Amino acid sequence: MSTRTPWWIRVPVLFFLIFGLMEYFIDSGDKPAIIEYPITQFFMLLVLMILIAIELILGSIENIMFQTLSAEGKEKYLAAKNKKFEWTWAKNVMSKLTRSRSIEKEGEIILDHNYDGIRELDNVLPPWWVYLFYGTMIFAVIYLVRFHIVGDYDQKLEYEQEVAAAQLAIDEYKKTAKDLVDVNTVEFLSDASDLSAGEKIFQGNCVACHMADGGGGIGPNLTDEYWILGGGIKNVFHTISEGGRDGKGMIAWKQSLKPAEIAQVASYVLTLGGTTPANPKEAQGDLWVDPNAPQQPEGTESETPPVEQVSDSTTVAMD
Ligand code: HEC
Repeated sequence: MSTRTPWWIRVPVLFFLIFGLMEYFIDSGDKPAIIEYPITQFFMLLVLMILIAIELILGSIENIMFQTLSAEGKEKYLAAKNKKFEWTWAKNVMSKLTRSRSIEKEGEIILDHNYDGIRELDNVLPPWWVYLFYGTMIFAVIYLVRFHIVGDYDQKLEYEQEVAAAQLAIDEYKKTAKDLVDVNTVEFLSDASDLSAGEKIFQGNCVACHMADGGGGIGPNLTDEYWILGGGIKNVFHTISEGGRDGKGMIAWKQSLKPAEIAQVASYVLTLGGTTPANPKEAQGDLWVDPNAPQQPEGTESETPPVEQVSDSTTVAMD
């Protein structure tokens, strides 16, 4: 019994083994089972208690057996028990991997040379190093054949595959995280579902001041091309989210609307542009010209090439 592993190794090992098995077999989604199902905490507590109980029982059995031993047997038993627990297995592996000689045996491998009293040991190469070296040789052969002779794939292809996979993951993520939109990333939403959701929000929150058709009342006309706070999806999103100028009555809607909802209602507001409301309020603000819209060159087109088109030695050919 003396070679048995001590209890302070046995109990934790068994405990975490059971814990691991439990986590493996109980399907608890993203979260570990121990958090998802609190009953498992109780279960693990029970396991711990049973393990301790088993240890105690084994201990007392050993004790009783000890009492039945003869005096000589008792002595032997105690001597064996006092031998400290040793990592025999680990020690064996270690000596196999290094094949090092103990200092006492160094005499067997010492070389004849004697350089002013400095002598040399003829140690073998440690097996862990030798096998590692063989491993690199095998690796090199496989690598050479696979990538230089067969031409399996190259870094560029690998990179492109990873970028494509990442792009898919980003698209997937964006679908589930619409609320990530903010004033810098917002785009006009042209989906019918988004626009009808935007219309609902508009009818529910905004008609008191902007009228159901956007013609304006307390708030400005939203159907014309004149905007006080700037047109285009980004400005409109910003106005709805942060509110108008102080004291004008347009509150910051980010308190009550989610970013995705603001994007929807902003898109809906933009679809009102160009419609004819029943009682349009007079235009306020400035005529909005989209700075990103492709600009129509005015007048005649010049025949001479633009001055900037001088060849530039720093231009880099892009792949
Ligand atoms: C209490 C009245 C009121 C309500 C409700 C209201 N607004 Fe406004 N809105 C205003 C006023 C007043 C302004 C002008 C703000 C300014 O001049 O700074 C304005 C400005 C705007 C502008 C900018 C117009 C421009 O010319 O730049 C947009 C876009 C807008 N509102 C959209 C909405 C949306 C969408 C809702 C509903 C979620 C809403 N508003 C609810 C009063 C209101």
